[in-house]
Amino acid sequence: MIVYPELLEHLKRNPRAWLITGVAGFIGSNLLEHLLKLNQTVVGLDNFATGYQRNLDEVKSLVTTEQWRRFKFIEGDIRNLEHCQQACEGVDYVLHQAALGSVPRSLNDPITTNAANISGFLNMLVAAKDAGVGSFTYAASSSTYGDHPALPKVEENIGKPLSPYAVTKYVNELYAEVFARSYGFKAIGLRYFNVFGKRQDPGGAYAAVIPKWTAAMVRGEEVFINGDGKTSRDFCFIENAVQANLLAATAEDGAKNEVYNVAVGDRTTLNDLFAALKSALAENGVEYDKEPVYRDFRPGDVRHSQADIGKAARNLGYTPEFRIVDGIAKAMPWYLG
Ligand SMILES: NC(=O)c1ccc[n+]([C@@H]2O[C@H](COP(=O)([O-])OP(=O)(O)OC[C@H]3O[C@@H](n4cnc5c(N)ncnc54)[C@H](O)[C@@H]3O)[C@@H](O)[C@H]2O)c1
Repeated sequence: MIVYPELLEHLKRNPRAWLITGVAGFIGSNLLEHLLKLNQTVVGLDNFATGYQRNLDEVKSLVTTEQWRRFKFIEGDIRNLEHCQQACEGVDYVLHQAALGSVPRSLNDPITTNAANISGFLNMLVAAKDAGVGSFTYAASSSTYGDHPALPKVEENIGKPLSPYAVTKYVNELYAEVFARSYGFKAIGLRYFNVFGKRQDPGGAYAAVIPKWTAAMVRGEEVFINGDGKTSRDFCFIENAVQANLLAATAEDGAKNEVYNVAVGDRTTLNDLFAALKSALAENGVEYDKEPVYRDFRPGDVRHSQADIGKAARNLGYTPEFRIVDGIAKAMPWYLG
């Protein structure tokens, strides 16, 4: 099994062609930045549903002109098979990130979430299979654990889904499995656990907790905690998620056609998160003196989440380098920027 630093060196010497769907989003644009810095050729597909041109512009400003020339952007929609087919042409590895995230969004509008996350996913599987891509790595989700009470979460033990979003992400896993069995397709699902870092959207009704709270704290506004603050999550810094994607895409066949937890293995309550953000802001000269405001639990939310990352470590060589506090420290200048 190849370890991550060796993989990075190997890729630099042997550049490949990658497709990132959802490239204008948070995780997609971070994958783009890393791959371009490794001199890879990248095709990106996005319809700007929740992604931004400014994310692509920021990546452009962080790579060389020559590296940027290796990037081709297709403005298109995964709900359209032809767009998927065009994007998959000549690609070695697919990193499929495009989807509509957010549990509350899926509760408010299950039909649109279903179209992107299930029909769009199936289009991408078909296009990737027909194009003969080397591997298909896709964004699965810890929401698939649903109401299963055991902690830490191990990949084999899932419960009932708690939201339409969770259903869509589980269906992705089922489709990938069936494509492996029926067509010899090579897919890996990465069950992300609350990924955070630069370029994660702080705005809008469906923002994730870390960018949303940080933005509110910077503006001196109130922070709302849904529930008693003891809800816990395994927050995963984006660099760890990038590592998991690169390892998964290039993994040996024996590690393929599986799903893997992508997290750190830590458990942080919302109360602890609030304290960590407050102290990171103070280290950056921003004092926040308000207490959080507690309100009702949010429907569809899992109460506790913590990953067992042993399977990803054993099969992929995944070794997350950043724990939550390290990630917050690294991301803070971006939030303040
Ligand atoms: N961020 C997390 O903590 C987390 C956790 C679990 C799973 N995920 C999954 O990871 C993936 C990336 O999430 P993210 O946090 O970067 O979200 P994001 O919203 O920032 O990125 C998603 C991107 O997909 C694009 N997209 C949406 N629908 C599309 C469509 N029909 N056609 C083309 N592009 C489309 C959006 O415009 C956006 O740029 C998603 O599949 C999400 O469900 C994320």
